[in-house]
Amino acid sequence: MRLFIDTANVDEIREVASWGVISGVTTNPSLIAKEGRDFKQVIEEISSIVNGPISAEVISEDAEGMVEEALELVKISNNIVIKIPMTSEGLKAVSVLAKKDIKTNVTLIFSPLQGLLAARAGASYVSPFIGRIDDIGTDGVALVEQMAEMFNIHNIDTEIIAASIRSPKHVIDASMAGSDIGTIPYKVFKQMLNHPLTDSGIRQFLSDWEKAIK
Ligand code: G3P
Repeated sequence: MRLFIDTANVDEIREVASWGVISGVTTNPSLIAKEGRDFKQVIEEISSIVNGPISAEVISEDAEGMVEEALELVKISNNIVIKIPMTSEGLKAVSVLAKKDIKTNVTLIFSPLQGLLAARAGASYVSPFIGRIDDIGTDGVALVEQMAEMFNIHNIDTEIIAASIRSPKHVIDASMAGSDIGTIPYKVFKQMLNHPLTDSGIRQFLSDWEKAIK
């Protein structure tokens, strides 16, 4: 599973990108609003930090408006992916953009059928929201597993981005369920990195080393 970071905070992106582990970034209107900065400026800055796909979401609710926004956003950089919500207007926009070779990420996917529709409309990526599915007492990872199997059986090359990841366990489970990509918040990246046995192991090595050279 490839790793994307799910944030619009450029400091967080810079830090995790410096580890050499991320190959893309996803944002959404809530994450952009949290930064209190100009949308296009943020996306431009992110695309200068990370070479891979950068998802920037449209806010129009009609297909025409979505396409118009998309055509502006792709001018920012050649790695912009247009994030579009899973609605009938969204699907219309995805199919128009696919014909123009513009990559799309269909977001707010909560069922395998929504995933199939998005894939058939020509989406490059689909984003099932596993945390939000768990929130309502259903199994988010099971959705990823079902979609991965469905896409595999039918040779669908739309990639699955496991989104709304809330914990390191979600990352493990999404990868074992066959997700192509996991988009992970900064906090979860830090949780994945740290382990108490690594910290105590380093302290032990250094103290043994110091004792030996004294
Ligand atoms: O990638 C989608 C993600 O940003 C949503 O996460 O935690 O708001 O459900 P969350």
